[in-house]
Amino acid sequence: MGYEALPVGFFTAGPVVGEFFFDRERELAELLDAVRDLKRGVRHYYALIGQRKIGKTSILRELERRLRREEGLVGSFLDCVGV
Ligand SMILES: Nc1ncnc2c1ncn2[C@@H]1O[C@H](COP(=O)(O)OP(=O)(O)OP(=O)(O)O)[C@@H](O)[C@H]1O
Ligand SMILES: [Mg+2]
Repeated sequence: MGYEALPVGFFTAGPVVGEFFFDRERELAELLDAVRDLKRGVRHYYALIGQRKIGKTSILRELERRLRREEGLVGSFLDCVGV
């Protein structure tokens, strides 16, 4: 299949967010709850571990997007690859 034949909106490189982000609702709900706890002064620490291209960055980017939209919070994202 040539590159041009791939369906529009189907990405295989780089994180996906918004309409291109699929599922992971349970993980996102847990992380959103953790941020809401943070607002009450309760801290949680997470390490998101998974094999290559499993969707780690996508979850964090989608979390960031939802926090901005639903909670009015601005997340900060530091990518240490190449640092
Ligand atoms: N929730 C998702 N919905 C749809 N596609 C996804 C999702 N998560 C990952 N993908 C697919 O996997 C690809 C890689 O996602 P992502 O870059 O988030 O993975 P990663 O685990 O951060 O990768 P790396 O190990 O390179 O850091 C995306 O381009 C997309 O094609
Ligand atoms: Mg990544």
